[in-house]
Amino acid sequence: VKLGVVGKGGVGKTTASALLAQAYAGRGRRVVAVDTDSNPNLGLSLGLTLEQTEAVPVLPRSLVVGARGDVTSGELLAEYGRPASAGVTLLSALRVADAGAGCTCGGHATVRSLLGEALADHADVTLVDMEAGLEHLSRSGGTLAAADVLLVVMEPSTKSVVTAARTRALAEELGIPRTLGVGNKVHLPTDAELLAAACAEHGVELVAVLPHDEAVAEAERRGQPVRLDRDAALGRAIDRLVDLVDDVERSS
Ligand SMILES: Nc1ncnc2c1ncn2[C@@H]1O[C@H](COP(=O)(O)OP(=O)(O)OP(=O)(O)O)[C@@H](O)[C@H]1O
Ligand SMILES: [Mg+2]
Repeated sequence: VKLGVVGKGGVGKTTASALLAQAYAGRGRRVVAVDTDSNPNLGLSLGLTLEQTEAVPVLPRSLVVGARGDVTSGELLAEYGRPASAGVTLLSALRVADAGAGCTCGGHATVRSLLGEALADHADVTLVDMEAGLEHLSRSGGTLAAADVLLVVMEPSTKSVVTAARTRALAEELGIPRTLGVGNKVHLPTDAELLAAACAEHGVELVAVLPHDEAVAEAERRGQPVRLDRDAALGRAIDRLVDLVDDVERSS
């Protein structure tokens, strides 16, 4: 499955991506996690050190991936992929290393090409942790055009739900089959009700509610990786989300 994780800034895209990657890997799936943030930190969330994260080579810009392109997906993974947590290979698509280096469109073009090319021989799950913002879902950008499912992360705020509604509309235009809303940092049950009402009002399909988790917040404060804990409510919610995406994939 090809998953794009999108949403307003700071809602928890990177955290959710890291947890989902661990959940899929725990089920024996081969996961390729793609960091598209120009200030990349998915590696840190997945347990790499700062040095290791900085050492992940950035994908060349405007690369055409595929049998008849510049590189095959296998070659790309071998050259640019780095093992992160168990069963997860990390790719870093963009990094703004020096001021004035220009726009990152070329990096997005590479990711679009990578997603368009079936990674099936090398990965069961391709998960793209998207940079905040909507331009990458525009017709011209369309980084995620070849995704099967978009997970649009929201926190219990009207703004993040409105962003999700805009995202869904753009995703439809791009032809992405499903956009699923995922609430995060939810303090039950008040927030959950608020979020459900806002999603209903703005036409966002809310399929999962990830609770606020103090261990996640604490790990962030200490600069530690996020760890999927199946005994915690958050871990169980992530597991249910993986089940749900599996169902969506089977029924499509
Ligand atoms: N379920 C959760 N419980 C508690 N804290 C959380 C949870 N999810 C995310 N956070 C915290 O919220 C903050 C933002 O999370 P994260 O970096 O994953 O968001 P993001 O959407 O990737 O942000 P950006 O738009 O900057 O890429 C972090 O401090 C993270 O630890
Ligand atoms: Mg992020």
